[in-house]
Amino acid sequence: MTALSLHQVPTLVFGDHALDRAQQFLHDRGIQRPFLVTSPSNRLRAAQLHPGAHIDASTRREPTVAHFQALLATARAFQPDAVIGFGGGSPLDAAKLVAALCHSTQTLDAAWGIGNLAPRRLPLLCLPTTAGTGSEVSPNAILLDEAASSKKAVISPHLVPDAAFIDPSLTHTLPPHVTAATGLDALTHCIEAYTNQHAHPLVDTWALDGIRHIAAHLPTAVREPGNAGARTHIALGSLYGGLCLGPVNTAAVHALSYPLGSRHSIPHGHANAILLPHVFQFNAATTPHRHANVAIALGAAAKRSPQATAQAGCRQLWQLIAATGLEMRLSALHIAESEIPALAAEGLAVTRLMHNNPRPMTQQDAEHIYRAAFHGTLAG
Ligand SMILES: [Fe+2]
Repeated sequence: MTALSLHQVPTLVFGDHALDRAQQFLHDRGIQRPFLVTSPSNRLRAAQLHPGAHIDASTRREPTVAHFQALLATARAFQPDAVIGFGGGSPLDAAKLVAALCHSTQTLDAAWGIGNLAPRRLPLLCLPTTAGTGSEVSPNAILLDEAASSKKAVISPHLVPDAAFIDPSLTHTLPPHVTAATGLDALTHCIEAYTNQHAHPLVDTWALDGIRHIAAHLPTAVREPGNAGARTHIALGSLYGGLCLGPVNTAAVHALSYPLGSRHSIPHGHANAILLPHVFQFNAATTPHRHANVAIALGAAAKRSPQATAQAGCRQLWQLIAATGLEMRLSALHIAESEIPALAAEGLAVTRLMHNNPRPMTQQDAEHIYRAAFHGTLAG
């Protein structure tokens, strides 16, 4: 068996009142001047964490390299003794990079890629207010490089926070479309980990369990934002997906979705949701047994063959996404059909994720997948 390394968050708190535990953690560690990265909508809630915190609430969706550099300069001027990320994946990713580079001489350009980041000196806490990215437990941070019009990643064990506090009640105020998109991002993490070229028994259980939690409860969480039970299931599924991100990571769905984010600002989770059933169908032909297991976890009934079960899973996936109310046709999102070859080429260029896909993908395959997503029709 191939050896797999897990770089986990040393302190992981999940459940009601996790926020109180975060306050206690800051107190116990004697932290006096945390720099807190959040979004405008989370400013008030974040302010409760620590009276001495410098709160920067400027990080919105899809943070750019330029935004990050400004954030880093603000943090350096404040000279914090810890960094806190509070919000969705964007503030968390930005906070992780601030913590890593704040007291470092390394430039962001030198840190891009896998395993290039120098060790972090500042303590880092992450508190997610959405349930989807899993950033609070992952070694990944993604920024939009506007100059190159592409998403770039820093991946390093030094980005794994010292502590993550996951309180599902923080997600009760999310609007339905954000609940849907982030929840489907988490589902994509789990499916892409389990069906991955580098899938591993060490994380398979998390991936399958995450699929079960999300598939069974996402429509309820979308319909009833204050449903504490459903929110807890989705938060657990999101955590499990996040735990798979470091050791195994994602594959073709994420690679193909990046250009939809960088070119058209389609939210990350929504872009994944649009592509997920089509990539699932494409990949199921290569690894039907693995896809049949996903199908069962999604709630599909077992059929006579793994191929047939996987197909049933694909339809189940389609229905689940449709039930969340997200638009599933690229044609309805102001994307021209003539752009498909360029989108496909850009997606295929994300080789660090494409290498994880269980089935090799050609330009023609990727265009075929985009075309199906353009029309919103599931083949077969
Ligand atoms: Fe994702």
